[in-house]
Amino acid sequence: MPDPISDRGELNEVLRLVQREAEAYLDGIDTAPVRPPGGLEPEAALPSDGVGSLQAISELIAASVDGATRSTGPRYFHYVTGGVTPAALGADWLASTLDQHAYNWVGSPFASRLEQISLGWLKDLFGIPAAWSAVLTTGATASNFVGLAAARRWWGLKHEVDIDSEGFAGLPPLPVFASGYLHASAVKALGMLGIGRRQPRILTRDAAGRLDVAALAAALDGLGGKPAIVIATAGDVNTGDFDPLAEVAELAGAHGAWMHVDGAFGLFAATSPQTRHLVRGIEAADSVAVDGHKWLNVPYESGFAFVRDPVVHAGAFSAPAAYLGTEATARPVFGNLSPEMSRRARALPVWATLRAYGREGYRAMVERHLRLAQRVARQVDESPDLERLADVPLNVVCFRFHPPGVAENELHNLNRTLGELILEDGRVYFGTTDYAGKVAFRPAIVNWRTGEDDVDLIVRVVRELGARLVGSTAPAG
Ligand SMILES: Cc1ncc(COP(=O)(O)O)c(C=O)c1O
Repeated sequence: MPDPISDRGELNEVLRLVQREAEAYLDGIDTAPVRPPGGLEPEAALPSDGVGSLQAISELIAASVDGATRSTGPRYFHYVTGGVTPAALGADWLASTLDQHAYNWVGSPFASRLEQISLGWLKDLFGIPAAWSAVLTTGATASNFVGLAAARRWWGLKHEVDIDSEGFAGLPPLPVFASGYLHASAVKALGMLGIGRRQPRILTRDAAGRLDVAALAAALDGLGGKPAIVIATAGDVNTGDFDPLAEVAELAGAHGAWMHVDGAFGLFAATSPQTRHLVRGIEAADSVAVDGHKWLNVPYESGFAFVRDPVVHAGAFSAPAAYLGTEATARPVFGNLSPEMSRRARALPVWATLRAYGREGYRAMVERHLRLAQRVARQVDESPDLERLADVPLNVVCFRFHPPGVAENELHNLNRTLGELILEDGRVYFGTTDYAGKVAFRPAIVNWRTGEDDVDLIVRVVRELGARLVGSTAPAG
């Protein structure tokens, strides 16, 4: 196969092959083991002469059957991993087919307009004011980066320095405050921005990491009016718990600090009256990061960044060049609002899934997940060999295996080993974390397909494998 142009005749057959195989894969997703046995190693040597598209795609499919983790299925509870709704999948296929260049309106008015509409819908869904600037990103890490880059620019300007042009030279360290819920990706973003991974002062009132609001007030007071960044987390990965956004917003407002909210999955609490109180105060933040590939259930890579001040936001990411032209109107150049300039049309799956299921569809899904999380929490509480470690305000259940008579110092290794067995077993899928000094499980429920039978396996599998590990008979049921 010397040149892709000679492969044109295979295109339709390739599309049909992928459609057939995708249907077969997804037909089995509800019951397949989450982690298949592994097997076929994909070709690892760069070929001199290619094999053609049909052969290449067939090889990929063959390797994926036993190689792909069923993370899009209903029993994958690891990390915070959403699936892909039918509308989002169809739109994502379309996005690859159309292959739009979503830099600006000249490159693709279609992609730009869809991005503008989608971001407007998302603001509405999350209770973020319509006037804020916004952009689609590759995920919450990138969205944390965008929000904190805007914060960094704002902070520099407060010191009369354009950091994006001049750098940090001569400036003091940038004060950053957060609770123990601060996500690793926000720390990473602070590193990438030159603010420093060790810069955040973590103000906690307990081992679980809850924010010490009085300590935050005192810390901000201590700055004597100097600008700072406060990062609040809406949805802690271990428990789904929230920093008190309204209280943080009030303190940040009173002290002239920038408030960034990492709401990767927690911002979806805004979709239900049952949990909306958890995001009260979001409208008073300065920047907000949310994920698409988690609770919106669109394919990787999708996230949303929202920034109150459009001028500061654009200032942090603009990259003028003569050949790129300038927009004659007030339309946003999305390639100048986030790190990437050439960008995939990420708006297609976002628009399609919101169009397909609407505000009420997402409310229904989120409320189903809330119910399922409470169901798991109840089952944990009713099991004498399990211990729930935290309240369940949202969709994450934090617990550990704790059979009677096992000493505290043995529980760490026991739960770590059990975590490995659970991943190997593959009926359900979630790893361990450290929560308040304890090794724990933290299954997170975000997949649109997940139902009662799926979550009922969580407690059943943990107890069965746990009992085997400590040498007792497996619990009934
Ligand atoms: C609170 C929070 N922030 C940020 C992230 C990072 O998101 P992503 O991996 O999509 O970049 C996560 C992922 O779990 C998260 O839970």
